[in-house]
Amino acid sequence: MKFFADTADSAEIRELAETGLLDGVTTNPTLVHKAGRDFIETVREIAAICPGPVSAEVVALDHDEMMREAEVLRKIADNVAIKVPLTPAGLKTCARLTGEGTQVNVTLCFSAAQALLAAKAGATYISPFVGRHDDVGFNGMDLIADIRMIYDNYDFPTQILVASVRHPMHVVEAAKLGADVMTAPPKIIHQLFKHPLTDNGIASFLKDWQATGQSIG
Ligand code: E4P
Repeated sequence: MKFFADTADSAEIRELAETGLLDGVTTNPTLVHKAGRDFIETVREIAAICPGPVSAEVVALDHDEMMREAEVLRKIADNVAIKVPLTPAGLKTCARLTGEGTQVNVTLCFSAAQALLAAKAGATYISPFVGRHDDVGFNGMDLIADIRMIYDNYDFPTQILVASVRHPMHVVEAAKLGADVMTAPPKIIHQLFKHPLTDNGIASFLKDWQATGQSIG
């Protein structure tokens, strides 16, 4: 499963890129607002740090304006993927951009029916929002299982990008279900390393090693 960082903070992205675990980045207007910097400049910087796909979202609601914004965004770097909302205009834009060889991430997916439409429109990625789904009393992971089944039934190449990840178990469940990608805030990616038995084990090994009085090399 590929790991994308869900942030527009380039310092966080640089740190994660150094771990060798980072396959891409997703941004959205809220994350850009949080970063507090110029959008185009931020995307350019992130795309230079991370060679994988960097999703940049259009904010227009009609097809022509989405295409105009996508034109600006895809010129920033070859690894920019255009993020469009799951609306009729968004999917029309998706089909056109895909036809022109641009990667497209269809966002704000909350149903299997929507995911089916995105695959038919040729989306590179579909982003089901599991955390927001959980928030309103549904099980976000049921949605991932349904989409996996549908895409496998028809060999759709669209990659399932699990978004709105809120905790490490979302990542584990997504992997168990065969999701292609997950995007999570860097804090959650760092939490994946954590286990108290690992910390305890290191402490006791170090204590015993010191008692041997030896050093390596
Ligand atoms: C990523 O592509 C999504 O925009 C993001 O994961 C949404 O996360 P949130 O529901 O925590 O805002």
